[in-house]
Amino acid sequence: MKRLTVPAVRARKGGEPLVMLTAYTVRMAQLLDPHCDILLVGDSLGQVIYGLPSTLPVSLDMMCAHGAAVVRGSYHALVIVDMPFGSYEASPEQAFASASRILAETGAAGVKLEGGETMAPTIAFLTARGIPVMAHVGLTPQSVNALGGYGARGRSNEEHSQIVADARAVAAAGAFSVVAEGVIEPLARAITAEVSCPVIGIGASPVCDGQVLVAEDMLGLFERTPRFVKRYADMAGLIGNAVATYADEVRSRAFPGSEQVYAPK
Ligand code: KIV
Ligand code: NA
Repeated sequence: MKRLTVPAVRARKGGEPLVMLTAYTVRMAQLLDPHCDILLVGDSLGQVIYGLPSTLPVSLDMMCAHGAAVVRGSYHALVIVDMPFGSYEASPEQAFASASRILAETGAAGVKLEGGETMAPTIAFLTARGIPVMAHVGLTPQSVNALGGYGARGRSNEEHSQIVADARAVAAAGAFSVVAEGVIEPLARAITAEVSCPVIGIGASPVCDGQVLVAEDMLGLFERTPRFVKRYADMAGLIGNAVATYADEVRSRAFPGSEQVYAPK
């Protein structure tokens, strides 16, 4: 099976919804790949994999290492890697240096970056130079200090207008798709209607052209559960039960049993 391409994803505007999940590791990528159109190596790995308090301390080295693992573990989905905080905001040139390193070191097809009107010139700079960009508007976690938290966005007319303008600007700049995170339904609807590329929602209602979740959240593997997450499995429960049984069997010497023991010839 051939890997999905950026133009193929762009062509899905208004069509069959795009299925996207985060992946950070090779085994998870292998398991998600057959079912997903897009695997996102999200900077949410800062909290999910490294226990960091936010995405702000995530480094380009971390994104490159995990991005390469996810590309090695997939062959069907389009792989997109998040640009971490501090690696792209200063200038289009800084963004190009970081994005080209990500593509060269990981084999991913494109990058994602947070921001609207302010980042549009950078998105135009990268796309003109052959680097596909997925934009990210609405609740942008790298701006948590400026936003004052992770609450839903778009409840005031001012905020609604600004976020619609952001989505329009990034699409006009050449973004091949836009993540809309944590926006109230009328705003998700407005963004999806306004921009010509696919809008992929997270906490953004079913009106979008696709959906993304953090895999660990929907699998019940991560303790934090925002309202917009649906739990499709209880992996934490499964692991807890398995490890409790292992611990019991080690303590009672039931493990290893005869099947796990090397016998002499
Ligand atoms: O880092 C991430 O996981 C993301 C998605 C939630 C869109 O940016
Ligand atoms: Na992210």
